[in-house]
Amino acid sequence: MEKGELLYEGKAKRVYRTADPRYYLVEFKDDATAFDGKKRGVIERKGFYNNQISAYLFSLLARSGVPNHFVRVVGETQMLVRALRMFRLEVIVRNVAAGSLSKRLGIEEGTPLFRPVVEYYYKDDALGDPMVNESHIEALRLATPGQLQVMQEAALRANGILKTHLAGRDIDLVDFKLEFGVDNGEILMGDEISPDTCRFWDRDTGEKLDKDRFRRDLGGVAEAYAEVYRRLVGNTRGFGQNQ
Ligand code: TMP
Ligand code: ASP
Repeated sequence: MEKGELLYEGKAKRVYRTADPRYYLVEFKDDATAFDGKKRGVIERKGFYNNQISAYLFSLLARSGVPNHFVRVVGETQMLVRALRMFRLEVIVRNVAAGSLSKRLGIEEGTPLFRPVVEYYYKDDALGDPMVNESHIEALRLATPGQLQVMQEAALRANGILKTHLAGRDIDLVDFKLEFGVDNGEILMGDEISPDTCRFWDRDTGEKLDKDRFRRDLGGVAEAYAEVYRRLVGNTRGFGQNQ
């Protein structure tokens, strides 16, 4: 599928139209930012790893009954997706305290949570993506209560599926961020599921295998992405290329 007009360029991805209005082409970049773009860098081959890892995890979710925008991989750093109108929301699911939750509530990183925590953030760079609750979302018309219910259920189901699958690859799913959109009235998961948007900790050593290595200057950033790719996608190089 040919790349058409550039529709949107974000910090880590470009989205292009295609000849078919039902589909977009997403291109993953090596660029990395953190802290609302205040920290910038490049992670070698990140575009490739995030494309392949997202494709793998989206396929897993689709097979397990969690619908999402992924159609197929069309290049090393590119995937074809269903064209969605995105909600201006980030949905975060947490299994273990880390990051902003630990900071805000004073809970030591690594403390298991008694149940998964679901949080919503309003996507607005100028405001620094503030946290919102269900009544804000309804009052500001960011989504209807029915739509939010669908997103919350999908996020919790995805959490169960991903957690179990990753555990089989010796990875603890600490937390992750999802985004959703609408196509023809159907609510689908969109965006990406990658070490940029998840916290992955090695089961045995607790080593961080995600973007926290970049955020916190821990070194071995590209190596961590490569390790997640190796554990998940393994030797099936160019996953989805011929599907
Ligand atoms: P947090 O602890 O900084 O709130 O992050 C929770 C999870 O959400 C973590 O896996 C990283 C992911 N995340 C994003 O993907 N994009 C963002 O802009 C933020 C703040 C977090
Ligand atoms: N990607 C976001 C930013 O650039 C936040 C993050 O992942 O830390 O601010």
